[in-house]
Amino acid sequence: MFDYDAELIRYHLRLRAAADVQTTDRVLDIGCGAGQTTRDAARSARSGSALGVDVSRPMLDRARELSEREGIGNVRFEVADAQTHPFPTDEFTLGLSRFGTMFFADPGAAFTNIGRALRPGARLVQLVWQAYDRQEWSTAVRQALADDRSSSRGHGAFSLADPTVTANVLAKAGFTDVEIADVREPVYYGPDAAGARDALFELRMVQDLLADLDATQTSHAVDRLMTMLDAHDTGAGVWFDSAAWLVTARR
Ligand SMILES: C[S@@+](CC[C@H](N)C(=O)[O-])C[C@H]1O[C@@H](n2cnc3c(N)ncnc32)[C@H](O)[C@@H]1O
Repeated sequence: MFDYDAELIRYHLRLRAAADVQTTDRVLDIGCGAGQTTRDAARSARSGSALGVDVSRPMLDRARELSEREGIGNVRFEVADAQTHPFPTDEFTLGLSRFGTMFFADPGAAFTNIGRALRPGARLVQLVWQAYDRQEWSTAVRQALADDRSSSRGHGAFSLADPTVTANVLAKAGFTDVEIADVREPVYYGPDAAGARDALFELRMVQDLLADLDATQTSHAVDRLMTMLDAHDTGAGVWFDSAAWLVTARR
């Protein structure tokens, strides 16, 4: 399973600082994946709780396993589509997401639904990716694997890349005090080129790029990928530049 916790460690620290979870908070973590941010929030909300929701059952199985192992009692995980799930109304005092809110088919409906779950005055704190061409982790990998083939950049990961659009979506969904800050941190893909290659092969983006290639083309593409990954090996792991928006708003 792709290790988002390792990839996003630098962003994790930025989100934690911005979220500033309080002891009594009731936190909703949207698209929580394996739940690192949910568990982290639960630890801070000692007299409160944290609920992580995701559409991926395997991710949530891993989240539960890690929570049990770490002995965190005030955290729960539910398989739920955040766009439509009937959350209890006015329940949560803080909404949180680390790159889990960019995949909605109808962002307006999704954020309206999330807004209903938040108590009036509650904060929503999210990290979302900036545009594709500001993400070295995406451009370098695509360039290496796709070579001169045209490639689609319509990946859902960049659906909230335009801050004006994001601000409008949140405003229409009933949020106020929308602030969008530029955050730039490197992302980690592995201890060396081989480790980074193995991690990348787990990503849908990479699987899609390799899907139509025959054996010879695949071999050349992987050679180019390894050359590129070697060039990004800093000696302390393979890192790429990236850019995100830290989006905060109030219900
Ligand atoms: C890039 S991953 C981030 C996971 C996690 N927040 C982290 O930082 O490790 C995006 C996550 O959003 C989840 N997701 C996508 N659409 C969703 C939806 N409509 N409702 C809930 N989760 C969703 C995916 O299953 C995936 O786990």
